[in-house]
Amino acid sequence: MTVSLEQLSRCHFAVDLGAARTRVYVKGAGLVVDQPSVAAVNTRTGALIAVGDFAEQMTGRTPQYIRVVRPVSGGTVVDIEMAQRMLRHLIGDRMRRALRRKPRLRAAACTPHEADPLARRATIETLVGLGARRVELMDTLIAAAVGCGLPVERPEASMIMVCGAAATQVAVLSLGSIVTAERIPVGGEAVDRAIVQHLRHEHELILPSQSVRPLQIALSDNGLTPQGPVSTEIHGRDVATGLARSVRVDTAAMREAIHTPLLAVLDGIGKVLRECPPDLVADLVDRGIMMVGGTALLPGLDRMLQEAIGIPAHIAEHPDICAVQGLGAMLEGRIAPLVLTPLAA
Ligand SMILES: Nc1ncnc2c1ncn2[C@@H]1O[C@H](COP(=O)(O)OP(=O)(O)OP(=O)(O)O)[C@@H](O)[C@H]1O
Ligand SMILES: [Mg+2]
Repeated sequence: MTVSLEQLSRCHFAVDLGAARTRVYVKGAGLVVDQPSVAAVNTRTGALIAVGDFAEQMTGRTPQYIRVVRPVSGGTVVDIEMAQRMLRHLIGDRMRRALRRKPRLRAAACTPHEADPLARRATIETLVGLGARRVELMDTLIAAAVGCGLPVERPEASMIMVCGAAATQVAVLSLGSIVTAERIPVGGEAVDRAIVQHLRHEHELILPSQSVRPLQIALSDNGLTPQGPVSTEIHGRDVATGLARSVRVDTAAMREAIHTPLLAVLDGIGKVLRECPPDLVADLVDRGIMMVGGTALLPGLDRMLQEAIGIPAHIAEHPDICAVQGLGAMLEGRIAPLVLTPLAA
């Protein structure tokens, strides 16, 4: 079944259920939710205690009877009921009542490139549980390309890289369709894991999860390129004693650790370029690759890409919300007509 712009323009709200964050765009109201995809549950009563930012702050700090859960994992809804409860709370009573008043509520959702039928069904069921009578699915790659303003409808190549938490998706687009694409199951979570593991193995230090980002920033003078500072001080907990300890870590070794998971991403980009017709590759040498998604903000990732693949890399404005904004623009009918890739709904 083909998702036409007309069908999308009949949708009342759009959802991007990501492994890290959930975003909701309501037609006429704009982006109303941009919060972590996290819920905290009381395991004794089953009650939902918190969602979003507040639930995320609870991670690792809860008493035994509270469990912090992530209903979306690897880009797929893994717990439909919890995802529905989380979304209901994130959207809020007032907005939900306004949506419920629509006679035939229609929803649109981003779906990862080549998501399997079960993953698509899980997204659809989540939104049906929220009252949607019909759900249109749109490939995240096209939604993000529209959201960052790439001229996807023109007969020239655009290259987009969606750097999410669970995965990185890369595509060359032309005439509103995907020419070649790859989904690599490596994203921001894998980068964070590489940092934590490096510190554990090399320095026997456990890094609190909230310290990963400051560490990336500490590396960011020149990011992933080799001219950054020589060492930086990190506070954590000793693996053996459990006591607080600081270490000075060699930033070159740390950059190496971050680099390792990213090699798979570089391979994926190479594959997309190799499978792309030569005329389109020629366009890309001038236009470069547009980076969107939260992990596009990883310091120095753009320079590393540029050096590795030899074409310019640009970071979109507000890269983390491009996909949902693109879907929102389609709902509002704000984009030029284009032929969209068929997707089962
Ligand atoms: N300033 C930053 N520097 C480095 N990484 C960042 C930054 N901001 C966000 N991230 C990372 O971006 C990821 C979240 O990006 P995004 O919101 O695009 O993910 P998502 O849409 O939930 O995931 P997915 O699309 O894979 O399901 C997280 O892994 C987070 O660590
Ligand atoms: Mg995403």
